[in-house]
Amino acid sequence: MDIPWWRDAVVYEIYVRSFADASGDGVGDLVGVRERLPYLQRLGVDAIWLTPFYPSPMADGGYDVADYRGVDPLFGTLADFEALVTAAHEHGLRVIVDIVPNHSSSAHPWFQAALKGEHRDRYIFRDTTNNWQSTFSGPAWTRVADGQYYLHLFAPGQPDLNWRNPEVRAEFLDILRFWLDRGVDGFRIDVAMGLYKAEGLPDVSDQSFKAVSPVWGQPEVHDVYRDWRRVLDSYPGERMAVGEVWTDSSEDLALYLRPDELHQSFNFAWLQAPWSPTAFKKVIDDTVSTVRSATWVLSNHDVVRHRTRYDAADPGTGLARARAALLTMLALPGSAYLYQGEELGLPEVTDLPDEARQDPVFLQSKGELPGRDGCRVPIPWTVDPPSHGFSPGGAEPWLPQPETFAELSVEKQEGVADSTLEFYRRALACRRELAGSIPYTLEWLKSPEGALFFTRGPLICAINCGLRPVRLPAHDEVILSTGALKRGLLPPDTAVWLRRS
Ligand code: NOJ
Repeated sequence: MDIPWWRDAVVYEIYVRSFADASGDGVGDLVGVRERLPYLQRLGVDAIWLTPFYPSPMADGGYDVADYRGVDPLFGTLADFEALVTAAHEHGLRVIVDIVPNHSSSAHPWFQAALKGEHRDRYIFRDTTNNWQSTFSGPAWTRVADGQYYLHLFAPGQPDLNWRNPEVRAEFLDILRFWLDRGVDGFRIDVAMGLYKAEGLPDVSDQSFKAVSPVWGQPEVHDVYRDWRRVLDSYPGERMAVGEVWTDSSEDLALYLRPDELHQSFNFAWLQAPWSPTAFKKVIDDTVSTVRSATWVLSNHDVVRHRTRYDAADPGTGLARARAALLTMLALPGSAYLYQGEELGLPEVTDLPDEARQDPVFLQSKGELPGRDGCRVPIPWTVDPPSHGFSPGGAEPWLPQPETFAELSVEKQEGVADSTLEFYRRALACRRELAGSIPYTLEWLKSPEGALFFTRGPLICAINCGLRPVRLPAHDEVILSTGALKRGLLPPDTAVWLRRS
């Protein structure tokens, strides 16, 4: 049976604003991405996922889309996008783009018309509000000039679309085709469980992303993905969709992954698991037993970088644990999503000045919540300031980089055997080499306290989350380890790949 490309793919998330700036305005762009394709090819990933680059007032970093078929001048032109897709394919990299169907920007012509009273039923306007809150804090309703309110589960600049209106459904099918015709290999679906709200918009007692509630995960959404799947399948080349789906359980998640719906969904349970062998084992067991095509992710542009998360739990351990978690994740069946900069071991930047912060989470909560800017600081390519090679010329990057980025830059790590960058390159190369010889299924091995051992055919992966070194399982050869092994022992906060015949 042929295995589709995405099933075991390593996908690299590019937060376009912060990856590489070619135009010299301090903001990353599509030409910048194109110039760095050789770096990504050398890193050894299979695909890139580009966060939104569409025309947008940037009320939420581009997740507020004013035109679903264009490119914001900040990021380039449609011709730049087309050139990027062609060049990515020439480098052996697939391209996934973000699609944002839950809400548009308030600058979208549809919403501008709605404000004038035309076609308001493309959005969710009501005379009175309910108790729903914006995910970014504050009420989810904003009043317009004539006294009605509109719903926005995120920023006021992101009005929720009304998916009960067939015009909205038709429009997004056309948008999918627009990008598929331009050669994209797949879509990452923003807030994929959000599109429908329960009829009558009843008040809620718990509105967390994960709760089963009138706000998220209405059954009608599955028909949308059945339609989308038919469109994807009508194109050659295994086009795919990965959902940003937050659910309570892996059973609920699996509903989105039925054979006629989405190909993949992010597995946030893995990202949320604490540093514990029992927690890791539970997530792995739940995932592989309920989900047809597993994915794994440790960081993205919405969460505190995993190095810093692990450090917060146990100061000083962050980088070692980040490397060990990564090696473990790359040994699991399914596909892995990486976030730009994790291959450099970048930490969350926690001390950004308030005036630099742009995330609506920070702004809407009036500074009570730090927001997500700390994981979005532009990538350090070279040692030297002002932008560590992010922007040409003397441009200041849109978020300031800390001095510590010099030591973590690509330039500093390239060719240094024990650097995090070279470790990622080796791990991805080994994964590629092993790909043909390991089965999808995983078997647990008896593990000492604090550790977790599993095997897939000739590959054994062992991770030590405990406080004491543990004896390695029987093996013929060490393939790769995240830290030094001494006398057949695996130290704490370390993972290893072993081969056995
Ligand atoms: C999820 C995106 O990843 C996040 O960055 C954005 O703020 C929300 N969806 C709203 O679009």
